[in-house]
Amino acid sequence: MKTHTIGQSQWSRDDLLNALEEFSRIYENRPIQDNEGGMKAAQMFYAWFVAKSLQPKTIIESGIWYGQSTWMFEQAAPDADLFCIDPATYYKKGYTSGKAKYFKKDFTKIDWSHINPKTTFCFFDDHQNALQRMIHCAQLGFQHLMFEDNYPPGKGDCYSLKKAFHASETRTLLPGLAIRDYCENLIDVYQEFPPIISPEMNRWGEPWSTYDVDEPLTTEIQNEFQSIYAEESENYTWVNYVKLKEFEKNKHCIQLSDLKKKFDWSSMV
Ligand SMILES: C[S@@+](CC[C@H](N)C(=O)[O-])C[C@H]1O[C@@H](n2cnc3c(N)ncnc32)[C@H](O)[C@@H]1O
Repeated sequence: MKTHTIGQSQWSRDDLLNALEEFSRIYENRPIQDNEGGMKAAQMFYAWFVAKSLQPKTIIESGIWYGQSTWMFEQAAPDADLFCIDPATYYKKGYTSGKAKYFKKDFTKIDWSHINPKTTFCFFDDHQNALQRMIHCAQLGFQHLMFEDNYPPGKGDCYSLKKAFHASETRTLLPGLAIRDYCENLIDVYQEFPPIISPEMNRWGEPWSTYDVDEPLTTEIQNEFQSIYAEESENYTWVNYVKLKEFEKNKHCIQLSDLKKKFDWSSMV
């Protein structure tokens, strides 16, 4: 079944396929061989691809774990300033970047007024509510976002945009304003990336086709370099790229404070 999309996909399947070899070579040199609990090739390829394509001036990474993704962003956009956020400091035992600025405070509590939101890429792998994150980004004028752990309804520990777009989501943000419609108003492009190669079972041991998912980029391993994608294919998480519309501050965007009473964001899954 096809996944939800909005607008014109930023990258074609050929763009993605053609980049698989380059990333696999870079990934061979990863500092952490088995990044259990964090991204593996199935998702990290896409985060690398988007950062490399955008070449943002600034990357904000929320959710560091042991630091493998920080290392990956350095490979993808070596000239970008890096701001890395995690309340925990596992990365101190893994990979620490000499150029990143580290924060323990939540993304929503940090003052971002000194950076240009239009040339910033915000990457979220922090298991927080993606809708809340997206509204906060819109308020600050950030436009390029990516969410890991973009799980289908009933799965995962946090609210995802995939859940927001699903037909089973009937909640409204304000009277008469469905979550789904509100998201469509804010978003210019929503591209959910396909699996690179599909395993028989998904990460929950269910048949691969249980949830809507696009055709994989490739159906068989054709080259030696592709084997890592097959080995780590179960890690697929419907990772997405979101480009928000340009907007005049506060015009199209609901104030999060107005929604405070209605939503307990952290318990919304
Ligand atoms: C799945 S791991 C991140 C994996 C990492 N991006 C990688 O690929 O290796 C999730 C991380 O989110 C962190 N986390 C939890 N709450 C957070 C928050 N509010 N802001 C940022 N990070 C948070 C956790 O401490 C954990 O390190």
